[in-house]
Amino acid sequence: MKGKILVTGGTGYIGSHTTVELQQAGYEVIIIDNLSNSNADVVDRIEGITGIRPEFHELDCNDYDGLKKLFDQHKDITGIIHFAASKAVGESVQKPLLYYRNNLVSLINLLDLMPQYGVEGIVFSSSCTVYGQPDVLPVTEEAPIKPALSPYGNTKQINEEIIRDVAHAGAPFHSIILRYFNPIGAHPTAEIGELPNGVPQNLVPFITQTAAGIRQELSVFGNDYDTVDGSCVRDYINVVDLAKAHVIAIDRIVENKCKKKVETFNLGTGRGLTVLELVNAFEKVTGVKVNHKIVGRREGDIEKVWANPTFANTELGWTAKESVEDTLLSAWNWQVKLQEQGK
Ligand code: UD1
Repeated sequence: MKGKILVTGGTGYIGSHTTVELQQAGYEVIIIDNLSNSNADVVDRIEGITGIRPEFHELDCNDYDGLKKLFDQHKDITGIIHFAASKAVGESVQKPLLYYRNNLVSLINLLDLMPQYGVEGIVFSSSCTVYGQPDVLPVTEEAPIKPALSPYGNTKQINEEIIRDVAHAGAPFHSIILRYFNPIGAHPTAEIGELPNGVPQNLVPFITQTAAGIRQELSVFGNDYDTVDGSCVRDYINVVDLAKAHVIAIDRIVENKCKKKVETFNLGTGRGLTVLELVNAFEKVTGVKVNHKIVGRREGDIEKVWANPTFANTELGWTAKESVEDTLLSAWNWQVKLQEQGK
């Protein structure tokens, strides 16, 4: 066993894929999740893929005493990957306090407890949202942080600042901030994937549910942007590729290879695709039509953003490998399996 890793939000979309990769790389994983946006049966599904059942605690990261108890039970946790957070942009505008409480207090609690228990480092889930609409594309980690467009985006910016301030104050651990672009797709086994609550807000779950007949029509938000076909451009990254970057980040912490107290990496493919290009790619690879219509722009949307992933490529030795076609097919296979299971 390479070490014990605490994964917060481990039954969620990216957390579950990362747990699988960590276990397959030889780490022992302890999952905590408050199940606010996921289901405990994901633990069975992870075990189904890896043959190893991760220890699971239903626990909210805002519960300081509960976290402390967990660390008392597991005094040998070497690293933390902190996924647990609320992530719906629109909801964050309606319920800012919920977002600030959930997303800030949980990180503060973890950073507070880490030195008490000798935890060597933390990997933090950040987002390309911190760049806003970048002036230069593809965007590098050095690009300026723009004023956030939503409380959700603001929590990611503030969390990054908290991490930097704590490091500056002499915290004895390393932090790796990973700025995700747009994670999509599902595990090749179709055992785990993205399972949004209610009507999906994100593009790919909406596409797969429309293709499956659960939703009547996809609304494409805007066709008057300054892009090849007028729809927005994003950098869509395979969730398993993304999960693998977390294993490399944890290796870097436990093998003491971090070059600074806080390191920040873009995790993207380096390629931008429009919404319409993604819909076309989905239809082509699955052979299933996606009813769609063009509607007005969505408030707060950024016109175009894609990553310059060179720093992650060279420094972490990590590259996004899966094609967008295979990734869309994995999302579709997951959707089909969900329906077979009546979900
Ligand atoms: C947003 C956040 C990102 C966050 C992610 C998680 C911003 C700028 N980005 O990404 O930080 O991590 O959500 O939830 O706050 N679209 C449609 N029709 C739909 C849904 C989406 O046309 O029904 C379009 C959007 O306009 C956008 C693209 O698809 O151009 C991707 O949208 P989405 O999947 O919601 O992700 P982001 O908004 O890029």
